[in-house]
Amino acid sequence: MSEPQPDQILQVGLGFWASKTLLSAVEIELFTELARHPEDLEALQRRLGLHPRSARDFFDTLVALKFLERREGRYYNTPATDFFLDKRKPSYIGGVLEMANQRLYPFWSRLTIALRTGLPQNETRDGGPDPFAVLYADPARLKQFLKAMTGVSHGANLAIARHFPWNNYRTVADIGTAQGDLITQVALANPHIDGTGFDLPEVASVFEDYVEANGLSDRLKFLPGSFFDQPLPKADVVMMGHILHDWNLDVKRMLVRKAFEALPQGGAFIAYESIIDDDRSTNAFGLLMSLNMLIETTGGFDYTGADCTGWMKEAGFRETRVEHLVGPDSMVIGIK
Ligand SMILES: C[S@@+](CC[C@H](N)C(=O)[O-])C[C@H]1O[C@@H](n2cnc3c(N)ncnc32)[C@H](O)[C@@H]1O
Repeated sequence: MSEPQPDQILQVGLGFWASKTLLSAVEIELFTELARHPEDLEALQRRLGLHPRSARDFFDTLVALKFLERREGRYYNTPATDFFLDKRKPSYIGGVLEMANQRLYPFWSRLTIALRTGLPQNETRDGGPDPFAVLYADPARLKQFLKAMTGVSHGANLAIARHFPWNNYRTVADIGTAQGDLITQVALANPHIDGTGFDLPEVASVFEDYVEANGLSDRLKFLPGSFFDQPLPKADVVMMGHILHDWNLDVKRMLVRKAFEALPQGGAFIAYESIIDDDRSTNAFGLLMSLNMLIETTGGFDYTGADCTGWMKEAGFRETRVEHLVGPDSMVIGIK
């Protein structure tokens, strides 16, 4: 038997050091600066307005963490940080890190309180039961949140657009569409598909701008509304990305039922997020996401593939399956 080692304990216990270093680098737009042109220590420190005491350790920490490279005294982005963290590129996914830095990082310092009370620890701490009403009261926060969702979801959205058998279907509705990246990727990869993005009215302009920027305004429409008050738009495929986990079990079941009602016979419902493994022992990201729902919502939680296929069967779906997408994300598919 090997001796127990402390490495993992210390790495995770002090993991916030590395996390906050990356979040601050995104906040001060370090990767965007370096994408313009690589710099040596003094020039980069000056351009970013850093104190001489901090700059060298900060940049070299990012080298050691493999977010920067240093060659002959000059700092460069890595291929990944250049592609994903340069704000001027369409491939930028830093929105989610900006949101994590401004909102989740301080809220997670109250995790122990959430564990003891079961109460959210975000802006809704002193407010009403609907996290989105509070989040969207500030237009800047609304926009930041919706863009952040694109950052979280983009990889899985591409996988759904490419790997689901779209040839069998003509229309799609994306429920809680946010900026609309999922339905956009589906439409870009499948020119025969037309669709509806359904979300709260406040989301309309952010969705419409994104769809227009992708040249899809003639095929993708926005339908404002709340899934609490009305039926879901009818389509051959109904999709929900990161929706079910926001809500308690009763609302989850209601949403699965409404998806069933919106589909024709043979239609498909796709629910996707960081689906937890059925044994609840390996998808740490999915389980942490569920703790994030504890911080962010009044009743939300993430769930296993078996949980979701169970709700689908209850609602009447005749066939269900779980398919892995990318990283911690999977989709649960129900066929009516
Ligand atoms: C966690 S985000 C998921 C966004 C996107 N589907 C994704 O996976 O990136 C939840 C979305 O649900 C929307 N939403 C919240 N309450 C809603 C309601 N009552 N009716 C319709 N959409 C709602 C929010 O505006 C937000 O866009």
